[in-house]
Amino acid sequence: MSQSARRPRILITRVVPDEVLSLVRGRAEVDAFLEDRPMPRADLLARARGCQGLICAISEGIDEELLATAPGLRVVSNVAVGFNNIDVGAATRHGVVVTNTPDVLTETTADFAWALLMATARRVVEGDRYVREGRWKQWEFQLFLGGDIHGKTLGVVGFGRIGRSMARRAIGFDMRVLYQDAVAAEPAVERELRATRVDLARLLRESDFVTLHTPLLPETRHLINADTLRSMKRTAYLVNASRGPVVDEAALVRALEAGWIAGAGLDVFEDEPRVHPGLLARADVVLAPHIGSASVDTRAAMARLAADNCLAVLEGRRPATPVNPEVLDGAPA
Ligand code: GLV
Repeated sequence: MSQSARRPRILITRVVPDEVLSLVRGRAEVDAFLEDRPMPRADLLARARGCQGLICAISEGIDEELLATAPGLRVVSNVAVGFNNIDVGAATRHGVVVTNTPDVLTETTADFAWALLMATARRVVEGDRYVREGRWKQWEFQLFLGGDIHGKTLGVVGFGRIGRSMARRAIGFDMRVLYQDAVAAEPAVERELRATRVDLARLLRESDFVTLHTPLLPETRHLINADTLRSMKRTAYLVNASRGPVVDEAALVRALEAGWIAGAGLDVFEDEPRVHPGLLARADVVLAPHIGSASVDTRAAMARLAADNCLAVLEGRRPATPVNPEVLDGAPA
């Protein structure tokens, strides 16, 4: 048997750092779409056929159709912590292991959500535009008055890794932290992060900043909607660095127009890369192109973890971060 016949075949759907590409090429036959754009669906379907491993990104939909097209597939390794682009149930039924990249992006994503929070409250982007456009003529007492951050209440919706990192940063700003999550954190964690678990209604009512860190699930789709937005303080800000559909964007536009809340910092959108025109038109919204985890080091660490996960499954080892470990454990699908 030739060397290449024994090596697994892996499709990489995105540009990855050279050292990660070399690592995978050293241990597998690699077909790589080394462009920084979503792989066209027809290419994905055609090129996944015959592969045992797939290293992909959130813009690739991994569904029943793809899984049926690639019956030899054993692992789908997402270069992201979120995996709502993958039909995990279908993958499990096909005996395909799904992995993601938690942990390595936690602090970077919390840094960015915090940057959005600060930029929104303190009107950093509006100020930047004002200066660049040559409109700044003098110091003014009332120029770009924003909202204070220190000493205020931060409401964290979804108290997983990133939500907790947001709370940790809030200690430095002497903030009160409320959180909502289906599962209570350990008392020691609540003490360390000075965080109190409350229901969503109270969190929305009392928070000056509401920051979303929940996965996209049927029960979190449009969790922030006209009713929940109306229950927030008129001086409050919304930050979303989780998944766009957690927020009903049309309702958010209505809330901003009606003054139900003071502003929003958004890294994710319902129909990316499309952004609701009502948001584009507003100065009280800071917009970012889904770059929460986009630091040089973190993107490299994500690609490396995804590659390690993929190779682990194909080489008969346990991947570090499986999403459906029941496939590895041989439980009936
Ligand atoms: C990015 O959105 C991720 O889920 O890692």
